[in-house]
Amino acid sequence: MNRTNPDDEGRLRPETRVVHGGRRPAAGESLAPPLVQASVQVFDSLDDYDDVASGRRPGHLYGRNSNENVASLEAAVADLEGATAAVATASGMAAILCTVLALASRPRPLVVDRDAYGVSLALLRSDLEPLGYEIREVDLADEDALRAALPGAVVVICETVTNPLARVNDVQRIAALASAEGVAVVVDNTYATPLLCRPLAWGATAVVHSVSKYLAGHSDLIAGVVCAEHQLIDAVRQRVIRTGGSLGPFEAWLALRGLRTLALRVPRQSTNALRLAEGLAKLPQVERVWHPSLSGPGGHGVCARLLPDGTGGMFAFDLVGGRPAVQAMLDRLRLVRFAASFGGVETTISYPALASHRSLSLAEQMSRGIGPGTVRVSAGIEAADDLLSDFRQALGSG
Ligand SMILES: Cc1ncc(COP(=O)(O)O)c(C=O)c1O
Repeated sequence: MNRTNPDDEGRLRPETRVVHGGRRPAAGESLAPPLVQASVQVFDSLDDYDDVASGRRPGHLYGRNSNENVASLEAAVADLEGATAAVATASGMAAILCTVLALASRPRPLVVDRDAYGVSLALLRSDLEPLGYEIREVDLADEDALRAALPGAVVVICETVTNPLARVNDVQRIAALASAEGVAVVVDNTYATPLLCRPLAWGATAVVHSVSKYLAGHSDLIAGVVCAEHQLIDAVRQRVIRTGGSLGPFEAWLALRGLRTLALRVPRQSTNALRLAEGLAKLPQVERVWHPSLSGPGGHGVCARLLPDGTGGMFAFDLVGGRPAVQAMLDRLRLVRFAASFGGVETTISYPALASHRSLSLAEQMSRGIGPGTVRVSAGIEAADDLLSDFRQALGSG
């Protein structure tokens, strides 16, 4: 019999596990997962209900608690991240909030990378700080600043590769410093994906994703996921259930369908991003390119260690001439569209000053390197030459 034994899964490569993970149809079942579009299950016996509700027996009873399609997605992503458990959420933001609440259930100091996604910063500043949480925004590339921020904190929050300027955080070093102080580390691995980096293996406590981006991969749903060990995931799951941040079955079904091709998409997007970044760097209209492999000294050693198979499909560049120049480029682009998300199969651009980082003041944006000419690029799976030609003609260099 040539069937894969679940016990052997650890020895299969990620490209194989991403295709098969999360669900193993029994003989006679459909190869594609059936969509269980239901809010509630029925029971004949109070004892049976109690067994499922208390976890003594597997099963589902109410859609805010669990669902078969959601459970398949959770298992597939946990497997890819090398986690023992995962919980899916209604969005990446719900994943971040519920993880922080599970790790810091009372107001405590939280350390966050100052280069974090703007809405993550806004969540901490606007929703948790007023409740008494102390938010310590730190440049995580500055080891002394991190050391100074750790005492008394309960969690460090950062991205593997930052949005929008694609700075690579040394997750291994950050986790080592944090764990020496007994501080948990939550890594947002949305940009890198588990194909390129698995932060749990570098010492992170939990990994979160906006599944809306690469994991689902087709710009057609909003979802999130948290991966960690069982006890922490149980605690996060309780927050997800109580806050109503649960994922619906159809989103989970679509996300798992998208996830199956992750290993085809990400290497291509990674190669395309580098090709585009190198091509754009040669144009006189481009002042600076922010790509992990091109962004100057310091990052290369970290990239080689943490992202040996590629740095992902995201990068940014600064256009000479600021916002009017960006609008003029947008007016002339034929293939590439402006869309305030990323990770889909189509190449898109975004404008961080108005989108991902609009909650930051102009001064805060500038201090983080986000200027009026900064354009974020999400490389898709098209032919790189077509993409480069589109940018060249749009910038008048074609
Ligand atoms: C790095 C990063 N983390 C988290 C999120 C939030 O994800 P979602 O939009 O699925 O809530 C985003 C969204 O853009 C993001 O870029």
